[in-house]
Amino acid sequence: MIHQNSISKRALGLKASMTLEISSLAQELKKNGRNICSLSAGEPDFDTPTFIIEAAKKALDEGITRYGPAAGDPCLREAIAHKLLTINKVPSTKENILITNGGKQAIFNLFQILLDPGDEVLIPSPYWLSYPDIARFAQGKPIIVDALAENGFSLDINKMESQISPQTKILILNSPCNPTGKVMKLKELEAIAELLRRHPHIYVVSDEIYEFIISEEERHISIAQLAEDIKERIFIVNGFAKAWAMTGWRIGYLYGNATIIKKATALQSQSTSNVCSFAQKGALAAVQEQPSGIDYMINSYNKRRNLLTEGLKEIKELVVHEQSGAFYSFPQLIGNFPSSLDFCKIALEEEGLAMVPGIAFGQDNCIRLSCSASDDTINDGLDRLKTLIGRLMNK
Ligand SMILES: Cc1ncc(COP(=O)(O)O)c(C=O)c1O
Repeated sequence: MIHQNSISKRALGLKASMTLEISSLAQELKKNGRNICSLSAGEPDFDTPTFIIEAAKKALDEGITRYGPAAGDPCLREAIAHKLLTINKVPSTKENILITNGGKQAIFNLFQILLDPGDEVLIPSPYWLSYPDIARFAQGKPIIVDALAENGFSLDINKMESQISPQTKILILNSPCNPTGKVMKLKELEAIAELLRRHPHIYVVSDEIYEFIISEEERHISIAQLAEDIKERIFIVNGFAKAWAMTGWRIGYLYGNATIIKKATALQSQSTSNVCSFAQKGALAAVQEQPSGIDYMINSYNKRRNLLTEGLKEIKELVVHEQSGAFYSFPQLIGNFPSSLDFCKIALEEEGLAMVPGIAFGQDNCIRLSCSASDDTINDGLDRLKTLIGRLMNK
């Protein structure tokens, strides 16, 4: 038995990620012989492209197996700086870039460096579920800015501005968004840049991890390319997990002001030391490839996103909002349904359908379904969902 004060106050409130929990529960049921249809995945169902695997294997053969610089392989940092310039129109040098163990660690490190106890972090909801926990662990205070399903999840800038206080330190943006799939438009980003000019004490963390997973009609815009005058207050979080199907490789990066990057590097040197050295060579091969090298995956997500969305639109108890990026749909349940957590538990237990409850993303009247699955799995999931909703409505 451990003493009741053994766990630090900071760690007491820490919860395990709900998406990882649901995925592993679904996997466990599958292992036990249940016929499970999983639309809960937050990761590509493609394998990492072969040329990336070959680059990492070559690195191993060449003996790249030792500690490396805490900030990351200088070649990879330079290649990312080049990518930021050519693709995102954001000039930088390697001093602006830190290689991290996934995009998640980029956010973790940055929050540890920027936040003092009580500093507030504005998080538009629905949000990627780790933001509030990472903020709390850094002793920050998450301030949720509701972008309601009823309004198509559009950010209300005036409402957000009314939640700004002298303690506000960070505003998080996530486009394309997990879980809504919404892509921020130029006008919205310009309005946010204006807001930042009015509030010079706020930093922006722009999570762009789904930048390439976007429909043909949409364009990803980084706020960093719009606002030269406030560039020093903008950080970009990105990584290789989603677009390059490299979730297990754990490679992300943080772009931003060189002084802050240096501090975040010092933190890394005292925690994880450096990202796996040969895995970084795989990421280097990825970032040096033309973005068209991943078109086959992007086209497939776009088709499957449409398949999922059109299928969901046929269920009259759901409101399906516009989504043009990432690989999720976040429909709103209309009617007398249990909480999203209970709804997803019933779906898993009774229909063998794995989805993620909207409450994990701050909206309890929604559910998240992933289209990172085959057409057959998506159709199967839609059938199971229709059956479940039909049964719950007739109860
Ligand atoms: C919006 C968002 N940001 C960051 C991450 C973290 O990605 P990584 O696997 O690179 O840590 C995820 C992963 O699900 C995500 O959905």
